[in-house]
Amino acid sequence: MEIVIRATAHEVATTVADIVENYVRKGPATLGLATGSSPLGSYRELARRHREDGLDFARCRAFLLDEYVGLPKSHSQSYYSVIRSEFVDHVNLDPAQVFSPDGEAADIAAEGRRYDAAIAEAGGVDVQLLGIGTDGHIGFNEPGSALTSRTRVKTLTAQTRRDNARFFDGPDEVPHHVLTQGLGTISEARHLVMIAFGAGKADAIAAAAEGPLSAFCPASVMQLHRHVTVVIDEAAASKLKLADYYRYALENKPPWQIF
Ligand code: F6R
Repeated sequence: MEIVIRATAHEVATTVADIVENYVRKGPATLGLATGSSPLGSYRELARRHREDGLDFARCRAFLLDEYVGLPKSHSQSYYSVIRSEFVDHVNLDPAQVFSPDGEAADIAAEGRRYDAAIAEAGGVDVQLLGIGTDGHIGFNEPGSALTSRTRVKTLTAQTRRDNARFFDGPDEVPHHVLTQGLGTISEARHLVMIAFGAGKADAIAAAAEGPLSAFCPASVMQLHRHVTVVIDEAAASKLKLADYYRYALENKPPWQIF
């Protein structure tokens, strides 16, 4: 796991955009997209590179991590809508090639299996962007999620519903259930890129990177993965015991070694 501590939100976004751009230029790339606030700066930076430098997403496709159960696709806060308004609408990624779990499916369990099969059929995800919940969730794998889990329904914790209330008209509007890629599904992506900002994420980042491998902190499953880049600001890094070592490693990173 490589931990990249950046001074500003802009530098975090630029580093993440550099990583994604690399895959897009190599293309055809399968991108794993996260919603929530953490990747928004990176999406804006990628959209800028599309607009100003012609970064071409035409041969890319994308899979989302998760979706609220029971929220219509047309709802402004469904992840189907959010990823389009925040990213897809601003680049030349074909919206028909942007896939997400169907939170309105009549048979939610079957939908989870179908989604995993669709990712596998596409050849898997090349680079997966991840945010982290204050409770250590990735996707919506709340604490206690099996480290090998597949796409399935999960119940959001009260804390996650409170954290996400800012996107809705009120806390009661946040759905209780989600369909989320499992920790096993996420771990099959070839490169995991985690993004986090702010002191509110510091405990979760420390637990994920330096704590025990445990379902109690679902993001700790990243410790088993061969290619993880954690890109965070100073505040999110503030509880890392080895922060100085991560900075030292980055300063001495050989020029030929990309992220
Ligand atoms: C969203 C997702 C979640 C968020 C996490 C952090 O697709 O899977 O795991 O990444 O809740 O959310 P923000 O970035 O809003 O703090």
